[in-house]
Amino acid sequence: MINVPRGTEDILPEQTKKWQYVERKLQELGKAYNYQEIRTPIFERTELFQRGVGDTTDIVQKEMYTFNDRGGRSLTLRPEGTASVVRSYVENKMHGSPQQPTKLFYFGPMFRYERPQKGRMRQFVQFGIEALGSADPAIDAEVMAFALDCYKTLGLKSLKLVINSLGDMESRTNHRNALIEHFTPHKEELCKDCQNRLEKNPLRVLDCKVDRNHPAMKTAPSIMDYLNDDSRNYFDQVKMYLEQMGIDFDVDPNLVRGLDYYNHTAFEIMSDAEGFGAITTLSGGGRYNGLVEELGGPETPGIGFALSIERLLLALEAEDISLPFDESIDCYVVAMGDEAKKEAVKLLYNLRKQGLKTDMDYMDKKMKAQFKAADRLKARYVIVMGENELNEGKVALKNMETGEQSDQSLDQVVSYLKEAVQGGTGND
Ligand code: HAM
Repeated sequence: MINVPRGTEDILPEQTKKWQYVERKLQELGKAYNYQEIRTPIFERTELFQRGVGDTTDIVQKEMYTFNDRGGRSLTLRPEGTASVVRSYVENKMHGSPQQPTKLFYFGPMFRYERPQKGRMRQFVQFGIEALGSADPAIDAEVMAFALDCYKTLGLKSLKLVINSLGDMESRTNHRNALIEHFTPHKEELCKDCQNRLEKNPLRVLDCKVDRNHPAMKTAPSIMDYLNDDSRNYFDQVKMYLEQMGIDFDVDPNLVRGLDYYNHTAFEIMSDAEGFGAITTLSGGGRYNGLVEELGGPETPGIGFALSIERLLLALEAEDISLPFDESIDCYVVAMGDEAKKEAVKLLYNLRKQGLKTDMDYMDKKMKAQFKAADRLKARYVIVMGENELNEGKVALKNMETGEQSDQSLDQVVSYLKEAVQGGTGND
């Protein structure tokens, strides 16, 4: 037997119902916040992520699925969506559109060669948004409100918004120098990765899982002490707008994101639901004012976030929330005998043309077993077609909720059922 590759999964019909429900809700939020959907390729030129996500990140150094195509080009299965969206923004000159900021959302599989565990997959599906062209702190607050709403709209409650400011270039450089100075005397005590990071990207040392209990971590210089006036002012405004919306948040000066493009606002949404497991981060995002330029576009500010549907579904499980989707079908057609079956096939086709959810037996089952199948499918109505009734141009219609049974003329049963199922509900 050949199994699915490690870190991937099949999403079976029972699960896809949940996925579709969640996807629809997120699409609706996209509309409410006025973001438009963008779809970009699943693979990109490797260079895009090296430059976009950053050469020193774990993603680029250890986690990318990179291959050469038959033309010798180095391509990479996208590990995240932001770099691709920004590439497309630049390539399609979206900055030239009169409607700014450009507000986009996306859905799709992402690929990272990570150590798989619950909530950490090698293929996972992200929903993300990017707002490009505005450096207004109100849009930072909008993006965080959107991120929270993705969970709230599904009924999740155990949520925590954690925010930080990474500051502008000047603040970051000063903080970076302070970090190097602070950690250099301890260099030999740090893990191999951190010894490398210290030179190239000392901020990432703060995010190290191996060295997190090293005493030097606790006394490390905080970005809060290195924010210049502009950065501090920007961060204060972001917090003010969150407060305006009544959104609670914690400030964590040690919140460091795993991608290099961030500056100013960085945030994560965590679940504090019991039983959620070791990975508590549901989603993350932040501002990336230099990225458009880095990828060859004009100087343009940007901010966004992404979540994975896998972790969102785990959070729903942890909070014991079942999604309210309708699993029933409208009608099951029970046919008795060959002549009845011919009529049943025709009737089924006509019912479906009217948008009714219907099915019939294809396993040569006896009548009792056909009724059982109707029950299993939670059919609201059953039409019974026996040869005697058909000779009279009739069928028997049973309402499975009330048990009521009536004879209907074969010619009228489609319109009768359409009215019974959809009538007055506007549910076309
Ligand atoms: P990220 O923090 O790398 O950010 O990923 C965002 C979210 O994707 C995570 O919070 C998590 O829900 C999900 N995720 C990441 N890796 C996995 C995995 N291996 N298995 C399951 N879920 C995973 C980004 O990707 C940025 N592009 C977000 C962003 C958009 N920043 C600005 N705009």
